[in-house]
Amino acid sequence: MSIQISENISLRHLNTFGIEAMAEKYLKFNSLDDLQEWREIPGMLKSNVLVLGGGSNILFTKDFKGVILHNQLHGIELIEEDENHFYVRSAAGEPWDSFVQLCVKNNWAGVENLSLIPGSVGAAPMQNIGAYGVEIKDVFHSLEAFHIQEGYLKTFDLQECKFGYRESVFKGSEKGKWIISSVTFRLLKRPVFKTNYGAIQEELEKLRPDRLSISDISRAVVNIRTSKLPNPAILGNAGSFFENPVVSMELANTIKQKHADAPIYPVNVEVAKVAAGWLIEKCGWKGKVVGNCGMHAKQALVLVNYGGATGAEVLAFSEQVMSSVFETFGVQLKREVNIV
Ligand code: EPU
Repeated sequence: MSIQISENISLRHLNTFGIEAMAEKYLKFNSLDDLQEWREIPGMLKSNVLVLGGGSNILFTKDFKGVILHNQLHGIELIEEDENHFYVRSAAGEPWDSFVQLCVKNNWAGVENLSLIPGSVGAAPMQNIGAYGVEIKDVFHSLEAFHIQEGYLKTFDLQECKFGYRESVFKGSEKGKWIISSVTFRLLKRPVFKTNYGAIQEELEKLRPDRLSISDISRAVVNIRTSKLPNPAILGNAGSFFENPVVSMELANTIKQKHADAPIYPVNVEVAKVAAGWLIEKCGWKGKVVGNCGMHAKQALVLVNYGGATGAEVLAFSEQVMSSVFETFGVQLKREVNIV
């Protein structure tokens, strides 16, 4: 036996919210062999399993009964090239931003707009992370995942992942069945700069690069994020706590009639997406602190743990925000963060 299962481990430093909760059992796995070994321990396959990456999209509301499998698979390699692309495979346990920075350094283009997002590479496809006009599905080639119960590896291509806005098959019908072990990205040799997002343009005007490169875009995104989003190492948070809700065009128009400035983006003729941060701000929650938590003063979509908040407290507070938005606008917010 080379693997070591720990018992009664504090999860406080393993979630970016900084919430205190205990895990009954905990295993760091460094290879697929470690996982196979774990599967052979009597009783393990029957236990409650939670796969943890960077812990940046999770809220522990109670102690975890079962086993936490912490992904520590590492390594990034350029596996193939064609005329227009670099195919780069990253192990799932790599921190997402280390992967992005390596791509920027090597001029492998396509992920620069996704700079500084917390979390691991393996967690990125789970919810099709996105920011500043790019989603992971735009640069995705395939991924490999390990079937927990049956112990085999399968490759999922773009179609099989069923990506949508903050959605994938791993949050839907395949939830809880797989451990993503590596992700392969199809990156561009000749960058296509995505600078449509207003804040990026403004930031680039300040930076004034001589000749635009992906490193300038990355720098612009890093500047925007650091100016608006709280650093989880300092203030516990999990990025956007809610998704941007999709509402009927009828409801969107009602909101628009009262508030001409409402950030509403039509998805098709029937539905539109509303900026949740705006809804929350209009309801007076931006910068408001209740007990140990609150909605961030610079980005109302981010719920912050000011220190010592319990998961149950955060959950109850988020419920208050949701009810208030519903009463005011008739819009039902949905949490983006996984509640455990
Ligand atoms: N807004 C407000 N008040 C606020 C926050 C936002 O009025 O407090 C308005 C803004 O003025 C803007 C609109 O809402 O008109 C959109 O705001 P922003 O550009 O900050 O983006 P977002 O929709 O709030 C989403 C993602 C972020 C991502 C940004 C940038 C979701 C749930 N969130 O936020 O992702 O970084 O776009 O692309 O889609 C995350 O998922 O953890 C995350 C941080």
